[in-house]
Amino acid sequence: MAPSCAAVVVAAVVVLTLQVSVGAGAECRFPAVFNFGDSNSDTGGLSSLFGAAPPPNGRTFFGMPAGRYCDGRLVIDFIAESLGLPYISAYLNSIGSNFTQGANFATAGSSIRRQNTSLFISGFSPISLDVQSWEFEQFINRSQFAYNNKGGIYRQILPKAEYFSQALYTFDIGQNDITTGFFINMTTEQVIAYIPDLMERLTTIIQNVYALGGRYFWIHNTGPIGCLPYAVVHRPDLAEPKDGAGCSVAYNKAAQVFNQRLKETVARLRKNRPDAAFTYVDVYSAKYKLISESKKLEFDDPMLPCCGNVKVGCGEKAQVNGTWVVVGKSCDEPLKRVSWDGVHFTEAANRFVFEQIVGGKLSDPPLPLRQACQISRGQ
Ligand SMILES: *[C@@H]1O[C@H](CO)[C@@H](O)[C@H](O)[C@H]1NC(C)=O
Ligand SMILES: *[C@@H]1O[C@H](CO)[C@@H](O)[C@H](O)[C@H]1NC(C)=O
Ligand SMILES: *[C@@H]1O[C@H](CO)[C@@H](O)[C@H](O)[C@H]1NC(C)=O
Ligand SMILES: *[C@@H]1O[C@H](CO)[C@@H](O)[C@H](O)[C@H]1NC(C)=O
Ligand SMILES: *[C@@H]1O[C@H](CO)[C@@H](O)[C@H](O)[C@H]1NC(C)=O
Repeated sequence: MAPSCAAVVVAAVVVLTLQVSVGAGAECRFPAVFNFGDSNSDTGGLSSLFGAAPPPNGRTFFGMPAGRYCDGRLVIDFIAESLGLPYISAYLNSIGSNFTQGANFATAGSSIRRQNTSLFISGFSPISLDVQSWEFEQFINRSQFAYNNKGGIYRQILPKAEYFSQALYTFDIGQNDITTGFFINMTTEQVIAYIPDLMERLTTIIQNVYALGGRYFWIHNTGPIGCLPYAVVHRPDLAEPKDGAGCSVAYNKAAQVFNQRLKETVARLRKNRPDAAFTYVDVYSAKYKLISESKKLEFDDPMLPCCGNVKVGCGEKAQVNGTWVVVGKSCDEPLKRVSWDGVHFTEAANRFVFEQIVGGKLSDPPLPLRQACQISRGQ
């Protein structure tokens, strides 16, 4: 199809805007980060509601549990650090939080779709992505009301109005949508069949955030779920066939289809919202590289959890001779491990993933994190 006049005009306007407002290679100044997602980026949401992640979570970096299912920092923490921002407080954490430079709506166990089950039955969070977007809408309204009308301390813990359009909006969700299907014994084809529905819902939420003022989006794809020990624990029948890195082919196939559809979804958003920047980030490849090249990268067996094991959860306690003791203990060297607890990555692994994605080589368009406000042309 030949480009229409209108399209050429639009392209010219975009080029002009780009040169005026950013300029090629210019760095963005994101004053805040608002994050949506699951345990991959939960900095304390689920812990605030359903009981704190127990020790030894947090041992490597925070020296105590810090609301993260990890021995230390998550990829979102490294993102905040590298943008010169404080770690992002969980929106649901009412104690000691500071939302001046962002808020985190992610909770562990969250999915794009609402689940027809309870956290107490299946472990999946009731804070699905639509709920996170309602929280965000309330956060804008109510934080601005308090900032403007109450003043005082609220001016020191809530964002300025203009931050909502200048912030980076990050997403990392989808892993639990894939595992829920597999965990109720669906086939790979059945799981793949509902991916279009996931994409529709994700699109709606991102459009809502756009309608509320968001313009810069940084969207992680989902990781190689078939390489995580817990996947095969729930579906021993999917342990075989394995791929070259020893991961379940079925799980990884579903993750790859999800990612292909997500990349197309993000491209469509980019096309339909030419005044916004959408970056698709291939976290899958970063994680897969770490797992498949773990030996070369001087990590131990990537399938071996550092904390707990297949039968005992990380930080789990049991009664031994009448006293409660932690039986889900940490390994001695978390820095050499990929898997923290069989579900989540270690800080060392998260750092590796962050280093792979920060420069933009795994992104579409291939812009570094610091330039993710640039509106891309010709996409
Ligand atoms: C929950 O149940 C409804 C009604 O049966 C169904 O449409 C929906 O897909 C289910 N959700 C999930 C995540 O399975
Ligand atoms: C936020 O405020 C707008 C405008 O006052 C209103 O339309 C919307 O319903 C409010 N949203 C929430 C979640 O309170
Ligand atoms: C909250 O963080 C901001 C910087 O992000 C800082 O300027 C402010 O003083 C902090 N508020 C409190 C109450 O510590
Ligand atoms: C899935 O299949 C396994 C093995 O056949 C069975 O033990 C388990 O109860 C099934 N789970 C569900 C949710 O149907
Ligand atoms: C529990 O007590 C028995 C009998 O006193 C002792 O042999 C055993 O070592 C104890 N187990 C642990 C884990 O301390």
